[in-house]
Amino acid sequence: MITEEQVRKVLEDVQDPHLHTTLAELNAIKEIKVKEKLLSLKLAIAQPGTAEQMQLQQEVVAALKEAGAPSVGLRFEKLPDDVIAKYGSEEEEGGKTLLDRKDKTTFISVTSGKGGVGKSTVSVNLAVSLARQGKKVGIIDADIYGFSVPDMMGIEERPKVVGERIHPVERFGVQVISMGFFVEDNSPIIWRGPMLGKMLNNFFNEVEWDELDYLILDLPPGTGDVALDIHSMLPHSKELIVTTPHATAAFVAARAGAMALKTEHEILGVIENMAYFESKVTGEKEYVFGQGGGPKLAEELQSEVLAQVPLGQPDIDEDVFAPSVYAEDHQIGKIYTDIAEKVIQKTEKE
Ligand SMILES: Nc1ncnc2c1ncn2[C@@H]1O[C@H](COP(=O)(O)OP(=O)(O)O)[C@@H](O)[C@H]1O
Ligand SMILES: [Mg+2]
Repeated sequence: MITEEQVRKVLEDVQDPHLHTTLAELNAIKEIKVKEKLLSLKLAIAQPGTAEQMQLQQEVVAALKEAGAPSVGLRFEKLPDDVIAKYGSEEEEGGKTLLDRKDKTTFISVTSGKGGVGKSTVSVNLAVSLARQGKKVGIIDADIYGFSVPDMMGIEERPKVVGERIHPVERFGVQVISMGFFVEDNSPIIWRGPMLGKMLNNFFNEVEWDELDYLILDLPPGTGDVALDIHSMLPHSKELIVTTPHATAAFVAARAGAMALKTEHEILGVIENMAYFESKVTGEKEYVFGQGGGPKLAEELQSEVLAQVPLGQPDIDEDVFAPSVYAEDHQIGKIYTDIAEKVIQKTEKE
């Protein structure tokens, strides 16, 4: 059990990430409630909802747990303007953000009509395959309802924070940032729309991306708030739409695609995932999830099917654990190489 006094002690040297002044001096510790199983805490900071908040959150929770706190519920609010004005300094930073150099980077949003069709699998394998082609690639796992990229790529480390910049984790030559990095214990995320938009903005602006030829965005399914945010934030983003071969799945995906068309996002193409099952014994193909969804969707969007990816799992490699990454010489890995080549061809000829 931890006491209020101990909590204050733990927080003693913790600084506001933007004002570089201790929370104690800023009178920013707004509430400490110690209950049997939960310590709840409210802190005021200069810029809530930023990547720095997430970093601070992680540090504070970790330190409190180490000091013996049970579960920690941490809330943030904004410091009063006069406090910010008093302690604030002129904005430092003149660093170029990702969005400033968007002319160099091709943004590819991977979308689908609904979840579970393989959007993240496609995002991850496209990213890895582009990197295998020598491209500089990043991936943002922006599916706040079900971030999965770190697990899929077997990433265990967390991004480093240097100064006020977050450095993505690199795996298979791909720079990775995920909502999952900033959430403790896989707790479900209940942020609402505007917060999500802010988070994404941070991913663009506060992450220290190395040079990027491609940035792949694994978006939440459907046409929700976040997807819309992306469309307004990245007017030049290109779209890759994932569907299963089932006709109704394609129908749902068409709605996501229609939005891309409306917002003048170029659709690179359709990936039909889980297209068939091929028997290793007889080589026979079985269309377990139906047939025709991909081509139908492509037609509707006046686009094309870039690939039909069959059912199949990556081979387990004990040394490089990455449960959803297909090796380059895997049958499906080769299909992803093909997809990467097509994507390069389609995006570079402009
Ligand atoms: N071609 C495939 N063959 C077999 N399993 C697949 C294939 N594509 C995806 N999966 C599996 O299906 C599940 C859902 O895929 P995921 O990429 O997480 O979908 P989404 O991001 O659209 O929710 C995962 O368990 C994934 O490993
Ligand atoms: Mg996903």
